Amino acid sequence: MAKAPARFVCANCAAVTAKWAGRCETCGEWNTISEEAPAAASVLAKGTSAARRIEFVDLEGSAAPPPRVQSGIAELDRVLGGGFVPGSAVLLGGDPGIGKSTLLLQAAAALARAGQRVVYVTGEESVDQIRLRAQRLGVMGAKLDLAASINLRDIVATLQATTDVALVVIDSIQTMWLDNIDSSPGTVTQVRASSFELIRLAKEKGFSVVLVGHVTKEGAIAGPRVLEHMVDAVLYFEGDRGHQFRILRGVKNRFGATDEIGVFEMTEAGLAEVANPSALFLAERRGNVAGNAVFAGLEGTRPVLVEIQCLLAPNSGGTPRRSVIGWDSGRLGMLLAVLDTRCGLRLGASDVYLNVAGGLRIGEPAADLAVAAALTSAATETPVQADMVFFGEVGLSGEVRQVAQAESRLKEAEKLGFAAACMPRRVARGNRKLTAPDGLALVEIGHLADLVARFSGKAAPPKGAKG
Ligand code: TYD
Ligand code: MG
Repeated sequence: MAKAPARFVCANCAAVTAKWAGRCETCGEWNTISEEAPAAASVLAKGTSAARRIEFVDLEGSAAPPPRVQSGIAELDRVLGGGFVPGSAVLLGGDPGIGKSTLLLQAAAALARAGQRVVYVTGEESVDQIRLRAQRLGVMGAKLDLAASINLRDIVATLQATTDVALVVIDSIQTMWLDNIDSSPGTVTQVRASSFELIRLAKEKGFSVVLVGHVTKEGAIAGPRVLEHMVDAVLYFEGDRGHQFRILRGVKNRFGATDEIGVFEMTEAGLAEVANPSALFLAERRGNVAGNAVFAGLEGTRPVLVEIQCLLAPNSGGTPRRSVIGWDSGRLGMLLAVLDTRCGLRLGASDVYLNVAGGLRIGEPAADLAVAAALTSAATETPVQADMVFFGEVGLSGEVRQVAQAESRLKEAEKLGFAAACMPRRVARGNRKLTAPDGLALVEIGHLADLVARFSGKAAPPKGAKG
């Protein structure tokens, strides 16, 4: 039989070429092309080994939910989907100095206190440094198995011979080194091979493993993207180092939802859980400033109130600036256009600065109405009613649309002492109409022009919306 010609495939865009090249001509990525074995004859062809039949089952069955090992740190357990799953791997990414080692040492100590066996391997610090941190965190009493090593062969052999381990922390995966691979720690090959060994062992021995990963300047976890595919959950620990609070965000989770966040505050004695993030985000708020509006948002299943701040400045020639922190700048452009075209509010010539106070990042379109209120307030130099929250999505014709979970947003607002909520017009769903908490006055808005009219003092009938 004639030998099939060689085939080279790009790992990034899957383009097929006849010869190898350092750079893929289709997508422009470097070092992504590798040779692929020619396709074999069908596995059912004569002369191949006999195949066994696989059993099909129903969707219904008695699959027990995966057991969980809870760290006792509620904010962490919730982001994990209820705790660590035995045999699973978690990647924890984040900027250097954000608090990854602190969080994991606290979680490890809490688990150890609860009688679980926890192994903490550091490749970045000395054992003494970890002890100092433990002292600072006040967790000296916890019985941890602590080691400083970067030799993965030794680590794997030791773990292989250790029984009843519940959790293994590897801090960080970029420092791990396999001696049979001819490249230095932190390279793609080393990171991938080390992770593979650890994840395989975790499955085999039934412990959960947490890999700490550094984040590059561009925000990606250093090392191969493939690492994110290998693990069961990817968590990012983020926050502004100028602020004391930190957010743990799930970006992938095979055992739970990915839109949960955990909120922590970095204190002198480590990370403290923040059970009521809204109070923290609104702590430094000043009422009666034009350009500020409070958004009743939702992070995962939790309502979170944050302040949106907007500043307009006269543009000194050239293209007006649009500077956004914590929100999508494309969405700001859209809102400015809608305010201009549908409501006659001309902001085109001003520089616009938009900031989500406290350093939170909002992804929800439900913030549209709060941003529009902040912009309108800044433009008219009229402060927003200080005890009012805003939520609602704005469409291109200026209509204000329904958003999910209005009730929990309203409840949170009432809990924090707000007296009014500006929101989309209530519609009956089935035979049920949304009920608001007693202490909250509702301002229902059908069109963005209503909002603009409120600020200019004219109680104009809404444009394009029926009564
Ligand atoms: P660390 O956990 O070492 O960060 P990472 O592992 O992500 O690089 O934490 C780094 C910062 O946290 C450090 O600058 C000091 C600060 N910190 C506190 O403010 N309080 C504490 O109790 C601890 C342990 C650290
Ligand atoms: Mg660290």
